[in-house]
Amino acid sequence: MNFTLSSKALSSSKADCLVVAVPEKGDWPASTSEADAALGGQLKALQNNGDLSGKTGTTLLIPLQDAPWARVLLVGTGKDDKRTVADFRKALSAAVSVLKDGAARHVIFALTDTPISGADAVNTETGKLKLIARTLEEQLYTFTGFKSEQPPKRKLNKVTVAASSSDKALKDAFNLGLATGRGMNLTRDLGNTPPNICNPVWLAERAQQLAQEHDVIRTEVLDEKQMKKLGMNSLLSVAAGSAQPPRLIVMEYRGGKPKDKPYVLVGKGITFDTGGISLKPGEGMDEMKYDMGGAAAVFGIMQALAETRPKINVVTVIAAAENMPSGTATRPGDIVTSMSGQTIEILNTDAEGRLVLCDALTYVKKFDPEVVVDMATLTGACIIALGYHASGLMANDDALADELLAAGERTGDRAWRLPLWDEYQSQLDSNFADMQNIGGRPAGTITAACFLSRFTKEYRWAHLDIAGTAWTSGKAKGASGRPVPLLMDYLMTHAGK
Ligand code: BES
Ligand code: MN
Ligand code: ZN
Repeated sequence: MNFTLSSKALSSSKADCLVVAVPEKGDWPASTSEADAALGGQLKALQNNGDLSGKTGTTLLIPLQDAPWARVLLVGTGKDDKRTVADFRKALSAAVSVLKDGAARHVIFALTDTPISGADAVNTETGKLKLIARTLEEQLYTFTGFKSEQPPKRKLNKVTVAASSSDKALKDAFNLGLATGRGMNLTRDLGNTPPNICNPVWLAERAQQLAQEHDVIRTEVLDEKQMKKLGMNSLLSVAAGSAQPPRLIVMEYRGGKPKDKPYVLVGKGITFDTGGISLKPGEGMDEMKYDMGGAAAVFGIMQALAETRPKINVVTVIAAAENMPSGTATRPGDIVTSMSGQTIEILNTDAEGRLVLCDALTYVKKFDPEVVVDMATLTGACIIALGYHASGLMANDDALADELLAAGERTGDRAWRLPLWDEYQSQLDSNFADMQNIGGRPAGTITAACFLSRFTKEYRWAHLDIAGTAWTSGKAKGASGRPVPLLMDYLMTHAGK
């Protein structure tokens, strides 16, 4: 897809379709009035006839004659005083779904003059360009590589987004949005790839490939022997039952000054989670191919950084393993010594995410991090607590937590904080080791984070439980690309100019 930003007047911008917004409540944006004027008041007439409710996500496609555009698509954008980031994206997504497999080859979106309420940072032209560009990339995503018959090629091949000027700040915002959307789509590709292909070694190869494609990315891969030497017995215990060897994947993007401390991201990369000897029930188990969603988000973020080159240092670590039952698998009751020296009684082999993450979180100390954020499809309990809308956020630093929450609000990739109070820690008491790897049913998301917190004492740290947000189940099953937008936004706010 060819994406461009244009500041030409709409009336002199020829296209197969022009997309403008119709609010349910509020004045028409300038673009809509401009289109109406060019069409001799036809749009106002439609509204007067009651054809345009303006409700968020409703659409009306009108073929035109003797106009600069062969069609106009009116998209309902709801009420001016109530429009959230999610509403704005919903309206745009509705427009894209009408057009993506239609006849128009070139479409102009004129939506930056639609206000978003209650979010000052987003209700700017740059803020909206970021959202528009990212949403366009997201909505045009397909994953058809494993179908024997490919769908017919799309006619739509050029998308223009209307802007007020050709300012560099606007272009940068637009390009950041596109890069974020493409990063999400890489994350989705990796997540959607079946687990017989996407195993730890394959993921490591993708990381090496990313470094080859972008000279600003460096990749290093640790194999079992190297991990053994470092004492990563907790991570290795998860891979013990699998024929697929584990990998620790390190990717570095250094766009900042050499002495700038790096922002460190850690991703859970369980390429398939059967539960191990504590075997999961069969129904829906295929979705445990998405248990590498945190790792996949790391890839998406790295690619987006490489494409936009912000002045910041980012180091990422992926703990990649497959959790399988077999004669060599870890048993409930086994005790392992983690890289930190702390011993862990593994009472449930299905609580494996924390077991791979704890060694990765110990490993990252060597980078002297500014902050560490881990992303993990860690607990089913997080879906019970927050459903599919918010990622769970837990942190040992209030300022860091607040910044991540704010980035989630700005991007519509929201998180919600849960407490990490000491009172929960005793649920991890073990009779035989320093801790056990499960804390029982109450507050399962929090006790999982409590477990991790025992390995993150030496730096500012936040944990995102993305069990409910990394993918969608049901008819529209597929990886979502979250939390790439949240983290990209957060990192960009810390990039030097
Ligand atoms: N990968 C799962 C968590 C998960 C489950 C994510 C369902 C998304 C949907 C994780 O490894 C796991 O199995 N967690 C257990 C922990 C329990 C044994 C303490 C869980 O949530 O049941
Ligand atoms: Mn599990
Ligand atoms: Zn898991």
